[in-house]
Amino acid sequence: MEKIIIKTPEQIEGIRKSSKLAGQTLEYITQFVKEGVSTEFLDQKIEAYMRENGAIPATLGYSGYPKSSCISLNEVVCHGIPSENIILKNGDILNIDVTTILDGYFGDTSKMYTIGEVSPIALELIEVTKHCLDLGIQQVKPGNQFGNIGFAIGKYIKSRGFSVVYEFCGHGVGIKFHEEPQIDHSSRRNTGPYMKPGMTFTIEPMINEGRPGTVVDKVDKWTARTVDNKLSAQFEHTILITETGYEVLTDVTGEYLVC
Ligand code: MF3
Ligand code: CO
Ligand code: CO
Repeated sequence: MEKIIIKTPEQIEGIRKSSKLAGQTLEYITQFVKEGVSTEFLDQKIEAYMRENGAIPATLGYSGYPKSSCISLNEVVCHGIPSENIILKNGDILNIDVTTILDGYFGDTSKMYTIGEVSPIALELIEVTKHCLDLGIQQVKPGNQFGNIGFAIGKYIKSRGFSVVYEFCGHGVGIKFHEEPQIDHSSRRNTGPYMKPGMTFTIEPMINEGRPGTVVDKVDKWTARTVDNKLSAQFEHTILITETGYEVLTDVTGEYLVC
């Protein structure tokens, strides 16, 4: 098993800067997320913003992925490829996922956006998914085990009648795009590696309205959809384990206090 990297203070500063830019990219793009706009247009705006700020989009060319972001609409769970042919329409919900490389350091974050009038079930799914991310973040402190993130999320989701996607996970991030450990969003209590100060990783729960299973598009080999074509939502942050708790490195809104 590969080892979990403990980052040096210098590396942490680099990851902090890159993560901040990734968070700012999600804020910047908000003004363009409107009915009638193509996801290709949003992707181009994202790429230009990252480059203007000295960064490179990490997804571009990653394992052959062709775009600067992932934009996943409605029943798409993750890895939606931006396209001229995908036009945002009233009632859509979408996740935009961006990863920056700034001075060689990676920051990874995603959030949900809504177009016009959205169904009550879609709004509930988005709210529940955001709460899953927050429950996961609350588990982050030195000495805890990574499995308790997925335990907290899984337990809560059972009570809400939605399902946790198990085929895609969070991951260590910072020096590389995907590092050890793998962060499951549904797991057993007190399992997995122990958390230590200086580790950086993502929590990125994908929650489905219906069944948890996903199917990857046979043609583009990336787009993952729900097996029952019901809705899916996702939120993601890059997190640093501190001596006493966590710092949400991709939060630029001041929502999470360093603890
Ligand atoms: N940003 C995604 C994640 O959260 C990974 C996208 S990889 C891509 O891990 F190749 F699909 F872009
Ligand atoms: Co990620
Ligand atoms: Co991501």
